[in-house]
Amino acid sequence: MANSDISSRRAYRRTDDYTPGTPKVKLVTEDLPSPLPPYAVLIKVHAVSLNYRDANIANGGNPWPVIPNGILCNDGAGEVIAVGDRVDKFSIGERVAPINDTENITGRETARSWLAADEDGVLADYIVFDSNVITKLPDHLNWIEASIIPCAGVTAWSALKGCGMGSTVLLQGTGGVSMFALKLARAGGMQVILSSSSDTKLESMQKQFPDSPLLTVNYKNPKWHEEVLKLTNGVGVDLVLENGGTGSVVQSVMCTRRGGTVSQVGYLAKQNPSEMTELLPTLIDRRVSLRGINCGSRHDQEDLCAAISAMKMRFDDIIDSTFPFDKAEEAVEHIWQGKQVGKLVITV
Ligand SMILES: NC(=O)c1ccc[n+]([C@@H]2O[C@H](COP(=O)([O-])OP(=O)(O)OC[C@H]3O[C@@H](n4cnc5c(N)ncnc54)[C@H](OP(=O)(O)O)[C@@H]3O)[C@@H](O)[C@H]2O)c1
Repeated sequence: MANSDISSRRAYRRTDDYTPGTPKVKLVTEDLPSPLPPYAVLIKVHAVSLNYRDANIANGGNPWPVIPNGILCNDGAGEVIAVGDRVDKFSIGERVAPINDTENITGRETARSWLAADEDGVLADYIVFDSNVITKLPDHLNWIEASIIPCAGVTAWSALKGCGMGSTVLLQGTGGVSMFALKLARAGGMQVILSSSSDTKLESMQKQFPDSPLLTVNYKNPKWHEEVLKLTNGVGVDLVLENGGTGSVVQSVMCTRRGGTVSQVGYLAKQNPSEMTELLPTLIDRRVSLRGINCGSRHDQEDLCAAISAMKMRFDDIIDSTFPFDKAEEAVEHIWQGKQVGKLVITV
């Protein structure tokens, strides 16, 4: 066994005080298990990436149950610094990340255990996970880029699954999942239509991704789906990465080609089921498959890392900003206010 002399860690646990203006996380120091359980890996965390979900959980808006005062965040990257007696898949110094749902290895499991909800997350300087729920990360990425893979990356990967070269995809919003999907879609030879509530953001994205023009739509236009249809000569896109929820899903189906796919990833707009009365007739009329996306399995994370390594993809251009570990509270507030374009990362 290769153990370490690290016996405690600093972690941000939720305060579970949802009153506006009060701190949402608290820095605590706590003991690490010693000795390490036989199949466990001790990871020194180098970067943790924030998702909208983290701010939502910290502010009490998450619709699924969470353990009390859990450690926030599910997207991170680190280095193995010790392994339990029975670990043979990982060795000291390897770059790794835990998967988001530690019960989802192949995609067929019936149970679920989400990081930062059903169990502790990764916003800490050291974390311990079973070696069965971590994957290696691409060697060519820096820690900040690598930290966006397990949640934003795997979700984008799962949402685009089945879409091949030459497909047209609509990506909603300029948040982290959409930006990751934009990179994957461009690398995979897909035509991208990007939507946003901000023309300024769309213009800056067009400048950032000039080769093969990025088509854009402002979803503040109540008839944005008609603009998408126009951009696709009335046919519709092959796939929508749906982020709005009840307020946009019907329009998303309306601008998907017959037989196409809507990947339901997010629910960013205020949710109102009465907006979905036309959903079933529209789905049937357009023969569209509406599929729920729930990040992905360990196999998905391994496949995504293999694809990123094969293409030597970089993600430095979709990092919005970084915050130091001691500014975690500010980072959570920043993401809650939706100020970012792309990813916000806490360096540890
Ligand atoms: N299912 C899963 O496995 C999974 C995994 C990760 C995230 N999610 C969910 O996916 C969604 C996006 O996550 P994220 O991390 O990318 O969030 P994010 O980085 O916070 O991005 C939010 C962006 O989405 C856009 N947006 C806001 N309201 C919208 C609406 N009504 N319709 C379309 N776009 C809207 C905005 O872009 P503009 O400013 O450009 O308008 C906003 O900046 C969230 O709902 C999150 O909970 C789901």
